[in-house]
Amino acid sequence: MATSAPSLDLRDEILDLKKRRNAVILAHNYQIKEIQEVADYVGDSLGLSYQARETDAEVIAFCGVHFMAETAKIVNPGKTVVLPDKDAGCSLEQSCPAPQLEAFLRDHADRNYYVISYINSSAGVKALSDVICTSGNAVRIVQKAPADRNLLFVPDENLGNWVEQQTGRPMDMWRGACYVHVEFTRESIARIKALHPEAKVVAHPECTLAVRLLADEVCSTEKMVTYCRANPAPAFIVVTESGMLHRLRRECPDKTFIAGPTDHCACADCRYMKMNTLAKLRDCLDHLSPAIEMEENLRRRAEAPILRMLEWSR
Ligand code: 13P
Ligand code: SF4
Repeated sequence: MATSAPSLDLRDEILDLKKRRNAVILAHNYQIKEIQEVADYVGDSLGLSYQARETDAEVIAFCGVHFMAETAKIVNPGKTVVLPDKDAGCSLEQSCPAPQLEAFLRDHADRNYYVISYINSSAGVKALSDVICTSGNAVRIVQKAPADRNLLFVPDENLGNWVEQQTGRPMDMWRGACYVHVEFTRESIARIKALHPEAKVVAHPECTLAVRLLADEVCSTEKMVTYCRANPAPAFIVVTESGMLHRLRRECPDKTFIAGPTDHCACADCRYMKMNTLAKLRDCLDHLSPAIEMEENLRRRAEAPILRMLEWSR
C-alpha cells in the first residue's frame, strides 16, 4: 500500500496550490489517510457526485478513480477536473466496455431494456443508460424504474443481485464484479467473526451473496459511517476496501474497527484507489494535468441519466 509518511511541506504545498487554483479536493472513502486528511470532502460515490455538481470552485481535484473524476466533469463541464493518476481505473468499469453493451442491446432489442448502470462505468456506458445508480441509492432507483419495462442492471452482478433481493424486482444482470470485494469469502469472514464475537459485520453490496449472508448490515461506504455511529456495538468487522477503516476511526474514535480479511491477506486494498499519493495530488494541482476531457455530444448523453439519478435520490 502506498502510504509514505506525509511530509509537512507536501501538505502545505497542496493547501497553498488549492488556494491559488481556487480548487476543491474531493476524496473517496478508499483513499489513503494522508489524502483523506487534506481533502475538503470525503465520502461515497453519491455524496461526491453531489459535491462535484454543486461546488463553486474553479478546479476539482478528484482523488478517487477515473470514472469518478469523469462523472464530476460530466455534471460540471465548466470546471477543470484533474486527478492524481489517470490510470486509476476500476475492474467493474473494465468489465463492461461500451461497444459490448451497445452490441448486447442491439442483439436483445426485443427486450426493450430499461438500462440501470452502476456509476462504476465509463461515460460511454452511461450514455447508453436510462438511469445511473450508486450503492447508496440503488434500491431507491430500481424501485422508481418504470414497472412495465424489462430491467438490465450493468455491470455489477453482486450489487444487482442484492438490489433484486431488496426490491423483489427481477433484473437481467451484466456479469461484472469488483475484483476487491469478491476476494472476501464466507470462510475468511466466519474465521474473523469467531475471533470477535462482540463485533457486528458491515459489508459492501459488491460482496458475494455468501459473504452478505454473514453481515449484520449491507450498505454503501457512507452508510457504514451512519450505521456504526448509531449502533451500540463496541466493535465492527469492516468488509470493504481498507481505506474505509481510516474514515470510520476518524468519525467514531471510541469504537474498534477490524479489517475484514480475505483468504490471502489481512485486509483488502484496491490497487487503483491506492495509485493516488500526496505527491501526485500536488503535481496535478500544480500542472492542472492530467485533466478529464470529453467530447460534448458524449458528455450530454452521459449527463441525462446521472441527472435523473440525482433527482430521484433527493
Ligand atoms: P461507494 O459508492 O459505496 O463508496 O462504493 C464505491 C466503490 O467503488 C465500491 O467499491
Ligand atoms: Fe472499482 Fe472495486 Fe476498486 Fe471500487 S474497489 S474502485 S469497484 S475495483
